[in-house]
Amino acid sequence: MSAILVEREAPIAVVLLNRPEALNALNDELMTELVEALEALDADDEVLCIVLGGSERAFAAGADIGQMAGASAMDMYEARRIDRWDAIRKVRTPLVAAVSGHCLGGGNELAMACDLIVASETARFGQPETGLGIIPGAGGTQRLTRAIGKAKAMDVILSGRFLDAAEAERAGLVARIVAKEAWLEEAKAVARAIAEKGPVAQRLAKESVNRAYESTLETGLDYERKALFLAFASEDAREGLTAFTEKRKPEFRGR
Ligand code: CAA
Repeated sequence: MSAILVEREAPIAVVLLNRPEALNALNDELMTELVEALEALDADDEVLCIVLGGSERAFAAGADIGQMAGASAMDMYEARRIDRWDAIRKVRTPLVAAVSGHCLGGGNELAMACDLIVASETARFGQPETGLGIIPGAGGTQRLTRAIGKAKAMDVILSGRFLDAAEAERAGLVARIVAKEAWLEEAKAVARAIAEKGPVAQRLAKESVNRAYESTLETGLDYERKALFLAFASEDAREGLTAFTEKRKPEFRGR
């Protein structure tokens, strides 16, 4: 059985983590399949937004503890497990995390590696690693702090406290909360809305927002301006602007 399930529903694609027996714990096999699937979908012009989800019970309960328990520091270093996560950061297609149930440790880091999180009212977010004697290692200390600020990130990481969906939304980790029975459908609806806009503009906007995390305001503003000029060079921009003046729906081609 495959550790992930991929469904193309053009113009979106849905990738579901599929290790229900381990609450979708992220083992090597799952991460390898996930990265391969995301890279393939990112290269597919028909796919304009990707939803990444788990099951109703768990988005993912973290890295696979059994696999880590037997690993030495050198094993971790040589296996380059976490390095593979860089591939997710390089995906240009917008990524929507559809989170229901447990979203813990590496699971929360995976959700935060997506562009936005749509959460079921049942979602619970946490970084319980210090309770295992380790620390978040796939971006948790960095992305959570940027998302919710130092005070709450310290609370979550040092005390191991979980945030429910409402607190996670108030804190800025979650973009939208949806009804528990509709967690996946609502995330797909968000993805379809994203897929309706100009694809070139969406990728440039994603890059520019991410730049806000990684640079000074001046560098970020400069980057944004250049990205806007690049957007103007696209056929999509001509189509979008003309369609508005002609009072019709734009037909974007992603060029
Ligand atoms: N790794 C491997 N297996 C896991 C797992 C994980 N992270 N989380 C859950 N499982 C397995 C359990 O061992 C159990 O398997 P068995 O039925 O074979 O015993 C199965 O999934 C169901 O789990 P529970 O019976 O524990 O379910 P529960 O509803 O009682 O509890 C839970 C749910 C609170 C999420 C609990 O499973 C739990 O605490 N899981 C671990 C959470 C955690 O510490 N995550 C951080 C991992 S470290 C990390 O992610 C490092 C990093 O940043 C890179």
